[in-house]
Amino acid sequence: MQRPFEVDPAEYPFEDRWLAYRDGAIHYVDEGRGQTVLLLHGNPTWSYLYRNVIKTLRGECRLIALDYPGMGMSRAPSGYGYTPQEHSEALGELIASLGLKDIVLVVQDWGGPIGLNYAVRNRDNVRGIVLMNTWAWPAKLAAMKLFSVAMGGWPLGYWLQTRRNFFARKIVPSGIHQADKITKTLTKAYTDPYPTPASRMPTWMFPRSIRKARNWLAGIEAGLPALADLPARIVWGARDSAGFPLAEMRRWQSYLKKNETEILEDASHYVQEDRPDRVAANIRNVLEQIKIQSEVKR
Ligand code: BEZ
Repeated sequence: MQRPFEVDPAEYPFEDRWLAYRDGAIHYVDEGRGQTVLLLHGNPTWSYLYRNVIKTLRGECRLIALDYPGMGMSRAPSGYGYTPQEHSEALGELIASLGLKDIVLVVQDWGGPIGLNYAVRNRDNVRGIVLMNTWAWPAKLAAMKLFSVAMGGWPLGYWLQTRRNFFARKIVPSGIHQADKITKTLTKAYTDPYPTPASRMPTWMFPRSIRKARNWLAGIEAGLPALADLPARIVWGARDSAGFPLAEMRRWQSYLKKNETEILEDASHYVQEDRPDRVAANIRNVLEQIKIQSEVKR
């Protein structure tokens, strides 16, 4: 299949892979060999978000990063509603089709609910977690509920996302702490997937779903105790502009009992852009922990 837009090949030097998904197609990258590490993005990003992590670790493990239908280079099937529930189903389909086993999940933003929904239902197929600024529960914070109304509401949020491409143009740069990382190449990579008002629907559905998917989020939270004993690293951008305070990080610490946490004072919401080196280092730590566990069992 052809790429729907061009990407700087030095920044994103990966082979495109495609999985037919009903009458659409899921685009993903699959680099390296060994323990499977599945990298999950949020709004409005795509597998590009993990490019520097993949480049760092592809000699050490197998890294798979998909674009949810309607995002990045993936094509949504007809009738697709761009809800996180549907994205999580698409993720399950990719995992089943590729026969992925013993997965280390790496999640941020909506990648958290999308990936952990899989994890709580398939605990036996998950070996570790690395999580960055995310949540997997009904919004508790007034700021998050307000964000949902402003960005995912009607008519203002709808107009901002579909007419102004607000998430890709404004929220991405405001969610990166280190100004020198906000280059033209980066801005292009995050705006190119959304050339028309219709193509921007996924970026509106996400903030909308903070309210509309409350019950689904509550179901994931109810399952989180099953993940308590997994090797886990929490890598938290302390300068999050999207309203993820340290209180949310502490909630994760209370669920993931085996966590080690690194707070990054020089990272905002898109931790993978500000500090891909620390994301990669924390994935490496989880891989080492899994290896030690396997050796002890032998
Ligand atoms: C959203 O798109 O819904 C979202 C983005 C950043 C933080 C929280 C939610």
